[in-house]
Amino acid sequence: MNYLVVYSSKSGNTKKLAQAIYDFLPGDKELKPVQEAPDPSDFIFVALGFWVKDGHPDPAAQEYLKRFNEDHQLFLFATHGGALKSEEVEQAMKEAKKLAHKARIVGQFSCQGEVAPEVLEAARSQQPPPDWIAAAEAAKGHPDQADIDNLLHLLEALDLPW
Ligand SMILES: Cc1cc2nc3c(=O)[nH]c(=O)nc-3n(C[C@H](O)[C@H](O)[C@H](O)COP(=O)(O)O)c2cc1C
Repeated sequence: MNYLVVYSSKSGNTKKLAQAIYDFLPGDKELKPVQEAPDPSDFIFVALGFWVKDGHPDPAAQEYLKRFNEDHQLFLFATHGGALKSEEVEQAMKEAKKLAHKARIVGQFSCQGEVAPEVLEAARSQQPPPDWIAAAEAAKGHPDQADIDNLLHLLEALDLPW
């Protein structure tokens, strides 16, 4: 088996990106939620997607990220309610890389992902409210086609044996 796409997704945003990556990849490939993901050792390239939870990669993705070694080429992708270039999202991406530090990270991508109204309401009632909700209204409708196009352009530009 050549390519594996694994995603952790609670409300479907990260899954949308995973599906687009899967559709883009040629030939021998597999798409799995993290709960059913196979051992990464059997694949030459793995794309792993997580959602940002309380400033970190979500817990299920964190566990899977620990399973990579030096034989792996890993592409990381994520969705988050907060702003694209926020410090928090950068930190979450850094944390994901640290967890998979043995792997060769070949690229990364993130975009906003729509936040359910009840999640926003719960976050707003926290004291103090988390910084990320300031930009979360703008996440509505994301990931959209432009996000997916950006992701696929990035993948196309990778120097990998597609
Ligand atoms: C419990 C919870 C905590 C969240 N924490 C953050 C956060 O710290 N930063 C952020 O940018 N987005 C946060 N979000 C928003 C999600 O990361 C965002 O909606 C993401 O696209 C969800 O992905 P999914 O649809 O694949 O589950 C949070 C959402 C939930 C439900």
